[in-house]
Amino acid sequence: MMLSEKTRQSILSLQKQYPVKRSALIPALHMAQQEIGYLPLEIQKEVAALFELEPSEVNAVVTFYDMFFEKPVGKHILHVCKNVSCMLRGADCLLKNVCEKLQIQPGETTADGAFTVIASECLAACDRAPMMLVDEKVVGPIKEEDLDRILAEAKQGKGHPSPVPIEETAHA
Ligand code: FES
Repeated sequence: MMLSEKTRQSILSLQKQYPVKRSALIPALHMAQQEIGYLPLEIQKEVAALFELEPSEVNAVVTFYDMFFEKPVGKHILHVCKNVSCMLRGADCLLKNVCEKLQIQPGETTADGAFTVIASECLAACDRAPMMLVDEKVVGPIKEEDLDRILAEAKQGKGHPSPVPIEETAHA
């Protein structure tokens, strides 16, 4: 598995937009993930080579942020916030209910590949507690009776998009 030439060129041209090319690492990882769907070690190594970094440095970034995935994920990502404001307003229950409805555990993907559930740290929408990020949309405060509708609506959506589309930077 390798990145396409188009993505490699997009990453190289993105690097030129920063005084220090390493600053382009996170958007470059988004590009790589957009193409492959996730970031297996061989792709992390390829990105590391483009940045003249050790693979372990790239791996440290990939594993720090829960927006990057080392394994294949579902079409839709549900980041359920488990941090303090949401926890005080029932995040544990929300996570349990989401997982029960989808018959998976946090970190797993449904058998049909539709959903991956991730228990996340604060998602910066504490005023919407308890909340989750459905692909890129903030949803909350969530009541138990709303969950079926939220999941059904999520399934109709396009899925989780990359915040850094490859096309926009390819000719920069
Ligand atoms: S604690 Fe849940 S969004 Fe901040």
